[in-house]
Amino acid sequence: MASNSSNPAGAKVLSLETMNPRVRVMEYAVRGAIPIRAEELTAQLKAQPGSLPFAKVTPCNIGNPQQLKQKPLTFLRQVSALMEYSELLAPERIEQTRALFPEDAIARAQRNLAFVDGAVGAYTQSLGIAEIREDVARFIEKRDGFPASASNICLTAGASGAVERVLDILVSGPEVGVMIPIPQYPLYTATLAHLDAQAVPYYLQEEHDWQLSIADLDRALGEARARGVDVRALVVINPGNPTGGCLTEANIEEVVRFCERERLVLLADEVYQTNIYTETNPFVSFKKVVSRLGSPVELFSFHSISKGMIGECGRRGGYYEAVNIDDQVMGQLLKLASVSLCPNVQGQMAVDIMVNPPQPGDASHAQYTAELDAIYQSMRRRAKKLAEAFNSLPNMSCNDAQGAMYLFPKVELPQAFVDEAAALGQQPDALYCMRMLEATGISVVPGSGFGQVPGTFHFRSTFLPPEELFDDFIAGFKGFHLDFISRYAGSQQ
Ligand SMILES: Cc1ncc(COP(=O)(O)O)c(C=O)c1O
Repeated sequence: MASNSSNPAGAKVLSLETMNPRVRVMEYAVRGAIPIRAEELTAQLKAQPGSLPFAKVTPCNIGNPQQLKQKPLTFLRQVSALMEYSELLAPERIEQTRALFPEDAIARAQRNLAFVDGAVGAYTQSLGIAEIREDVARFIEKRDGFPASASNICLTAGASGAVERVLDILVSGPEVGVMIPIPQYPLYTATLAHLDAQAVPYYLQEEHDWQLSIADLDRALGEARARGVDVRALVVINPGNPTGGCLTEANIEEVVRFCERERLVLLADEVYQTNIYTETNPFVSFKKVVSRLGSPVELFSFHSISKGMIGECGRRGGYYEAVNIDDQVMGQLLKLASVSLCPNVQGQMAVDIMVNPPQPGDASHAQYTAELDAIYQSMRRRAKKLAEAFNSLPNMSCNDAQGAMYLFPKVELPQAFVDEAAALGQQPDALYCMRMLEATGISVVPGSGFGQVPGTFHFRSTFLPPEELFDDFIAGFKGFHLDFISRYAGSQQ
């Protein structure tokens, strides 16, 4: 039989050349070259302890709190455990179970098991369990003071699944553009690259605590439309990743008006809505502002169990709320959800606990709120301490984290180092981060993975290392940076 010229005999059918080029062009720095090297170093330390200048790798590249020993919320784990091994709720076992589990965890497990007829291993409705979507709607109503409807809620595998689905339905062809903040969380550029659509970048204002400038939105939109891009949507991440900035309510209102005026669908990524460390800019949802203004703007808002004080990243729970979306499009979104059958059940159950936690008077209320508060206060202290450390160093400046889990310091890299990176064909910030990793074991993400004003260099670090190890973590980083600067500053003279 003649061999196909694009598939010579013996070659793999599926190769880098033959695969979907849209996947090949996707970039996702949060799990890019530096974290991959970090994994190699971790393996090396395991195989040959003492072989590196540090005892362990500190993964500050990703907002994954339990990887850095954040303790899971007890109530959430108790309910999950009871639901997974529901024999513990059988009449012949329940007395023993009562000795081990609080009454409200048992009641919650029984209630939520009833939603799925006892079968946590069965598919649920594609949009997610109806009663949990009702709990989400009640949570939104209580948060915002405006009505919300379960029929507009869709539970998903983390916020990532929700964002991908919404971008999927928005992009009808390669001429479609979606406005994204720079710096941005690379889920957006990666998904747009995958869908063969255009990312239309607008810049957040570093010198104004990363607020969003309507003038820059106008500029970015005008330039893209002049190039013939069909700009359809605007993404806002609030609180910001990687910036840690929180938008003021006035700024949010301006953005809603901008989307109305320019006929853009608004995508509000609000996964860090409870990670707020500023008194001046408390979290205000886009949904609340859209409702207060009576705006017709088409809005999708996203939330997740991965962030906040829940930190259950691996359970993959999240949701989107769709507001003012055309009924027929809602039908198509349901069809898309149906194709992937349903979001995973434990993720849905964790969403339920996030939006409907133990209430005053419940057996677990005191413990739940104490655990939540301890995590929150600790994150707040760590955010402040790390920003102070960055700001105490030469060639480095950093806005405080008003929210989220990250700092995004600006580094003035010495020209001699920038030239060295160019000679090696590398991005200077990526090389700086790689050197940091090799010297200290601290794994962060270069600013080029999120986008930055050309000619500026940043990196993103989480402030998630455990508090008792935080001083060592900061000392390790400071030692590296001071040594780096003195070495290259010297070589410039
Ligand atoms: C801004 C933002 N949106 C969405 C996500 C995705 O979160 P999830 O784990 O819910 O998919 C992340 C994760 O870091 C994020 O930072």
